[in-house]
Amino acid sequence: MSLVDSHGRKIDYVRLAVTDRCNLRCAYCMPSQGIDFVPRKDLLSYEEMLRMLKIFQTLGVKKLRITGGEPLVRKGLIDFLAKVNDQVFDGFHLTTNATLTEPHIPELLKAGLKSVNISIDTLNRQQFKEITRRDELEPVLRSIDQFYDNDIPIKLNMVVMKGINEDAILPMAHMAQHRAIGVRYLEEMPFNGTDEIKPGYFTYRDIEDILATQFPDLKKMAYERTSTSQNYKVKDWKGDLGIIASYSRTFCGTCNRLRITPTGQLNTCLYGGSVLDIRKLLRNGSSDKEIGQHIQTAVANKPKDGFEAERLRIDRITESMAAIGG
Ligand code: GTP
Ligand code: 5AD
Ligand code: SF4
Repeated sequence: MSLVDSHGRKIDYVRLAVTDRCNLRCAYCMPSQGIDFVPRKDLLSYEEMLRMLKIFQTLGVKKLRITGGEPLVRKGLIDFLAKVNDQVFDGFHLTTNATLTEPHIPELLKAGLKSVNISIDTLNRQQFKEITRRDELEPVLRSIDQFYDNDIPIKLNMVVMKGINEDAILPMAHMAQHRAIGVRYLEEMPFNGTDEIKPGYFTYRDIEDILATQFPDLKKMAYERTSTSQNYKVKDWKGDLGIIASYSRTFCGTCNRLRITPTGQLNTCLYGGSVLDIRKLLRNGSSDKEIGQHIQTAVANKPKDGFEAERLRIDRITESMAAIGG
């Protein structure tokens, strides 16, 4: 079986947000006091998530990314991931702020970690503290070293913000010079847990101009079909650079993704709201087959792109990225 939408796209990638909680307070993601975190009873339990992932697997999903909030703040996560690895998917990818990963790297490897995407917006301790409102840069840097030494593919995500961390673009790029690490520059999006939309986000073109000025020999690489990132090579560098046009939404035509929020809501687009309450189905006696059918119908109606999804929303975007999983 497979999941195909009405635009002919095969959907085979699930991003599961296991919690909306986080130990950081990145300014582009949530206000300093945090958001109204979901009470425990409203979260999917690990048993429910396991059952749901099995259903997605029978529907042809091949790739699983674990996101949050910060996934590592949820107790019991690694045991759950080991079960997923034994019973459902062959390993998983992780998006994390990497502040809590260092002591768990051997267990994560054992549980099937295939690659890690790490949010890091600067290499300067003071600037990190201002952006994330926590003084946690050092453990992130140590985790990066250790993931690298364990041959785990690493991508670093830097949200580029006007007047805040432009000066970090170049030092971050150099993380890709001597090591095979991907450094990606993200357009900021309005998922900041408020109804504020800041004027003047950097676009992917602005970011490309800055990189081209810094690196006159910058070479655009071939675009990978279902990737969000347009990658670039600097001559003789081991790693690569990338730009993610997350607000300009240039890559929607080849999207293969679904999202599950911590409360078990299915989002067929980052910019749309919930289109199916999977938690309700998991808790009301529906069979796996029935749940699968509901998912197929919801996926068939996946919006053409993030602009259409945003237009179709009933409410304005006010949610935090932590509640969707990025
Ligand atoms: P992989 O391709 O699996 O490595 O995932 P990724 O790099 O897209 O995921 P990651 O969790 O590292 O997210 C990086 C940035 O891309 C974040 O800002 C995400 O919100 C953004 N992003 C991921 N998927 C989408 C998407 O479907 N649409 C848009 N507009 N942005 C996305
Ligand atoms: N705009 C762009 N990227 C964001 N992220 C979180 N909030 C935002 C936002 N408002 C990023 C995080 C993480 C990824 C999943 O999403 O930095 O790397
Ligand atoms: Fe936490 Fe990620 Fe949001 Fe930062 S962006 S507060 S690390 S969930």
